[in-house]
Amino acid sequence: MTSRYDAVYSAWQNDPEGFWREAAREIDWIEPPRQIFDPKAGVYGRWFPDALCNTCYNALDRHADGARAEQTALIYDSPVTGAKKTFTYAQLRDEVATLAAVISDLGIKKGDRVIIYLPMIPEAVMAMLACARIGAIHSVVFGGFAAKELATRIDDCQPDLILSASCGVEPGRLVLYKPLLDEAIEIASHKPRHCLIFQRPQAQAPLQAGRDLDWSQAMDEARAAGKKADCVALAATDPLYILYTSGTTGVPKGVVRDNGGHMVALKWTMSNFFGIAPGEVFWAASDVGWVVGHSYIVYGPLLHGATTILYEGKPVGTPDAGAYWRMIEEHKIVTLFTAPTAFRAIRKEDPEAKLLPHYKLDHFRVLFLAGERADPDTIKWAEDTLKVPVIDHWWQTETGWPMVGNPAGLGLLPVKHGSPTKPMPGYAIRVVDEGGHPVEVGKMGSIVSKMPLPPGALPTLWQQDQRLIDGYLADFPGYYKTSDAGFIDADGYVYIMGRTDDIINVAGHRLSTGGMEEVLAAHPDVAECAVIGIKDSLKGEQPCGFVVLKFGVNKENAVIERELVAMVREKIGPVAAFKLALVINRLPKTRSGKILRATMKKIADHDSWAMPATIDDPVVLSEIETALRAKGI
Ligand code: COA
Ligand code: AMP
Repeated sequence: MTSRYDAVYSAWQNDPEGFWREAAREIDWIEPPRQIFDPKAGVYGRWFPDALCNTCYNALDRHADGARAEQTALIYDSPVTGAKKTFTYAQLRDEVATLAAVISDLGIKKGDRVIIYLPMIPEAVMAMLACARIGAIHSVVFGGFAAKELATRIDDCQPDLILSASCGVEPGRLVLYKPLLDEAIEIASHKPRHCLIFQRPQAQAPLQAGRDLDWSQAMDEARAAGKKADCVALAATDPLYILYTSGTTGVPKGVVRDNGGHMVALKWTMSNFFGIAPGEVFWAASDVGWVVGHSYIVYGPLLHGATTILYEGKPVGTPDAGAYWRMIEEHKIVTLFTAPTAFRAIRKEDPEAKLLPHYKLDHFRVLFLAGERADPDTIKWAEDTLKVPVIDHWWQTETGWPMVGNPAGLGLLPVKHGSPTKPMPGYAIRVVDEGGHPVEVGKMGSIVSKMPLPPGALPTLWQQDQRLIDGYLADFPGYYKTSDAGFIDADGYVYIMGRTDDIINVAGHRLSTGGMEEVLAAHPDVAECAVIGIKDSLKGEQPCGFVVLKFGVNKENAVIERELVAMVREKIGPVAAFKLALVINRLPKTRSGKILRATMKKIADHDSWAMPATIDDPVVLSEIETALRAKGI
């Protein structure tokens, strides 16, 4: 099939408002939009400023009250606990309406913030939708973060309620959420009024009288009383959620998502980008704590009337490298969306895909990869193994949906390994130099997108309009700075090569090296430090911390290195995957005192490197090399 991409992209270029007006027809509005975009509202304009809607209604009720009532909406499959459960649209709507009544009875109303700190269990999806139903703004915090990170988010968005569980289940260990939650509330200045705790059979958490409530008991009582909350009318511009993501400091950024634009954009992507028909089974193997989970485990598939999957497991080890194949066969999944790391993990364990022939995957159509750079080698292996198109696409928490990709729904464009393909409607992608001037075809530069951002992308950062301007809009006036670097080739294919800031990507997880440096610097024996991301064959990158000790410290280096690893795990969380700390004598610096991180990275990655002309003392780099090689790097 010839791709309709060019025609559709041109249609958007010629009439962006007309394009999104048309896309908005797919949504059931309470009050449909008359104005499509108001360039004067908000930081850079607002989409659908006069419309009224409810996201939960569009995700559940309109299917539950229509032909999809008995269709499966959600499949929960948990190899780590052995549990499996399905919910039809009617069942999921009823559960969500009951939970919404429970949280309303706790005094939560439109505009209030609710933190969701839950593992990958159906209650996490229900919690998000219950908030959406009553207009409460949810903020999901990933379970792999430590108490301090949770506390930072509690203080920033000031929730009245936290929805959590007794534990998460990681292979071989329970992650007790409740002590982490209690510690976070202890550290935070803001105190939530209530916590609703889901007691999982694997662990019972002690509840604090007055503050904590038992989830199941509250639901049983609400059910017995026949309580259900209705969908509340919200402005399309009202926030649906806040999702914190790593910034260039230790303080995360609260990306805000609105209701109307978000629905319009996600619904458009389900058919036009992912090529999914309502009723089909779509699996995003991510976590609800990340943007991929928000957009493509919860909201996108449900808005579209598809069946979505909540998988509490890993690509390997639960029980083996055939786990994804088992899922695809058993649940009739037509497309899988995951991070390249997952495929590197499967390949490492089963390089010849010997487990694959045990499963029937004839119905499987496309594999989508995103979240980190998809290396051509991994793409090729996945193509050869699965014999379906493997589609890389590029986006960020900030945008909420693909900026650059290969639209399966419009007909695939030829794949070029190493490129996520072409800009999607809504995004006019350019590559510019430091002065904001376009660079030549094929030349590397900063990747920017012409303003305004399309529906679904962040309108602002939570209560920090100025931080949005300073961080994204000020450097290249008229353009959104993605903080990614790359180039565009002569065919208009975009290549994403890395970040221009201190963010690194570990197993598809976005982490701030600045945040890790703050933790290392707090060690009493550390004088100065630098954290860089170095190549890792499984996770893409892994953090590596270099520390210089204070004068006169009389402790073994190995002891300090172990303490540093433990500190990052305790302060940021296991998700940081910080396993490598090196005590060195000096950090390599320029004469003006700037740490030469890029050169250190090249040495660690065994890439060729040149002595920086501005270096203060060239010998320091050979000291770094020796220290790395001593660790086997
Ligand atoms: N709650 C608590 N801890 C968690 C967690 C959660 N929800 N998720 C991960 N962790 C922990 C892990 O147990 C691990 O702890 P450890 O240091 O004690 O082993 C640590 O955080 C690092 O996790 P991760 O980087 O995911 O490594 P892993 O060794 O557990 O798994 C992969 C490796 C490749 C299997 C895994 O990274 C994976 O499935 N990646 C797919 C990518 C993905 O889903 N990306 C999301 C964005 S699309
Ligand atoms: P997150 O906000 O966690 O989704 O991370 C977004 C960042 O991940 C982007 O800015 C990129 O640096 C990186 N990223 C995501 N997808 C891709 C991709 N397909 N190719 C290269 N980098 C990617």
